[in-house]
Amino acid sequence: MSPSETAHSWQRRHLLGTEDLAPAEIHHILDTAASFKKTLDRTQKKLPSLRGKVVANLFLEPSTRTRIAFEVAANRLSADLLTLTGTSSSLEKGESLRDTACNIEALRADMIVLRHSAPGSPLYLSRIVDIPVINAGDGAHEHPTQALLDAFTLREHLGDLTGRKVAILGDILFSRVARSNIWALTKLGAKVTVVGPSTLVPSTCTALGAEVSHDLREGLADADAVMLLRIQHERQARTHFPSLGEYTQLFGLNAERSSWLKPGALILHPGPVNRGVEIDSELADSHPSVILEQVTNGIAVRMAVLYLCASAARLASNADLPA
Ligand code: CP
Repeated sequence: MSPSETAHSWQRRHLLGTEDLAPAEIHHILDTAASFKKTLDRTQKKLPSLRGKVVANLFLEPSTRTRIAFEVAANRLSADLLTLTGTSSSLEKGESLRDTACNIEALRADMIVLRHSAPGSPLYLSRIVDIPVINAGDGAHEHPTQALLDAFTLREHLGDLTGRKVAILGDILFSRVARSNIWALTKLGAKVTVVGPSTLVPSTCTALGAEVSHDLREGLADADAVMLLRIQHERQARTHFPSLGEYTQLFGLNAERSSWLKPGALILHPGPVNRGVEIDSELADSHPSVILEQVTNGIAVRMAVLYLCASAARLASNADLPA
């Protein structure tokens, strides 16, 4: 299906999370991303879809991959780009998020991509401004484009995800990536098991649709893929385990433990990777690791999300789109 066909059935101006996406909508995004991915290595890199439109990247928490991938995606779609980070904006002088967003809209931006430490901040902005808002990570709540690029990467390698087991290992309690992935992957038919110490993997994850395991061998057994998560110190008010060394000893992924997975199982990580903590450094660079593929796929998925939300807001042009 080409992006112009998928755009017809896409109604959302905002992408706020994966919790409220229907399985068909997730497939739409992934199919659209697959079309855009084919264009990434062209000599002529730009598509005209968002020519003359302005995408405002409002990143009020640190980011490398998500911010740059949204920048590259917007550039590839020929949009003009505004980037505002916490330290470079008047939020530092006490301006509210609401006023900042209203000013960005008054400056004639056409879309806002928001990363913010407050859960729900993208939903809040979507009710204030008249332009599409894309969630690029809101506190420990959701990181939908990360989950979508993870699903895209898994689908590229495994095909249909129905019945596939994906283990998510690490700091689940504070992870927006885990939450968005549980919703996205289970909607695509995958079986998700969250694994880690009981202080970081709450039993309430079962209510989201995941299995819970505090036993590493059991959690990894027969998994088609494992997704590692780092310990998110910035969101922990107190330590949830005795030391990083102890965490690594009990739950770090190394070559021996990776043999508990299905042979050839994929290793994913949203980044940033803390080498030698949640994953052995060599393993992070070894063959079943698709960590850098995830980063590249992040461009195609963000192109799809910008394009589809812009189409729903009647901002995008369908001219010269890839088949
Ligand atoms: N995966 C991810 O969100 O990375 P960044 O924080 O670098 O954007």
